[in-house]
Amino acid sequence: MRKVVFVPFLFVLSFVVVGSYADWSMTQPEEDWQESLALGKEKLTKMHFYFHDIVSGKKPTAMKIAQASTTTKSPTLFGIVMMVDDLSTEGPEPTSKMVGRAQGLYASADQKQLGLLFAMSFEFTNGIYNGSTLSILGRNPVLQLVREMPIVGGTGVFKLARGVVFAKTCWFNMTSGNAVVEYHANVRENSDFEP
Ligand SMILES: *[C@@H]1O[C@H](CO)[C@@H](O)[C@H](O)[C@H]1NC(C)=O
Ligand SMILES: *[C@@H]1O[C@H](CO)[C@@H](O)[C@H](O)[C@H]1NC(C)=O
Repeated sequence: MRKVVFVPFLFVLSFVVVGSYADWSMTQPEEDWQESLALGKEKLTKMHFYFHDIVSGKKPTAMKIAQASTTTKSPTLFGIVMMVDDLSTEGPEPTSKMVGRAQGLYASADQKQLGLLFAMSFEFTNGIYNGSTLSILGRNPVLQLVREMPIVGGTGVFKLARGVVFAKTCWFNMTSGNAVVEYHANVRENSDFEP
């Protein structure tokens, strides 16, 4: 008895779902990228670049914007928040060809070990990826040799992208605090969005 009631209900529901989807796509015909949401059109893109994190000197690219009253007493500087607009290049030298900019913030989010919360938009400014962005969000335990952080999305050719970056400190000046960090990015992107 119960089944008889349930089945028609599901049947009606499926019409409601299909109907509203069709309606929605008809109102947005130019958004043809929606079609490529189908699985199986993804490809893996590997990229390699360097971030230049300059915290001191005449032209810092990373600066402190906030800290807690207890931050200076914390061995991990817990509570410090840095705003960043780091140059990103093909090679480790700052004079190397520019690839893009890493814009966002990092903050000390661990009271016991040095662990940063990393929230960064990576904007490409060159070549086929020019204008596209990737969003990196995750934990960065900076003292580890290689840190892994999620790529949670993107725009432009990286619409609906996801992936992971591997970050490795290439060079660090203890006195100035400046660093060059090597990044390997593995991005699952939709091949239909290629320029
Ligand atoms: C990247 O795109 C911007 C905006 O469209 C343009 O001004 C700039 O010249 C482009 N850069 C390169 C290197 O193609
Ligand atoms: C490290 O930074 C200090 C202070 O800015 C500077 O005097 C020194 O030359 C730097 N060392 C290297 C190897 O660049």
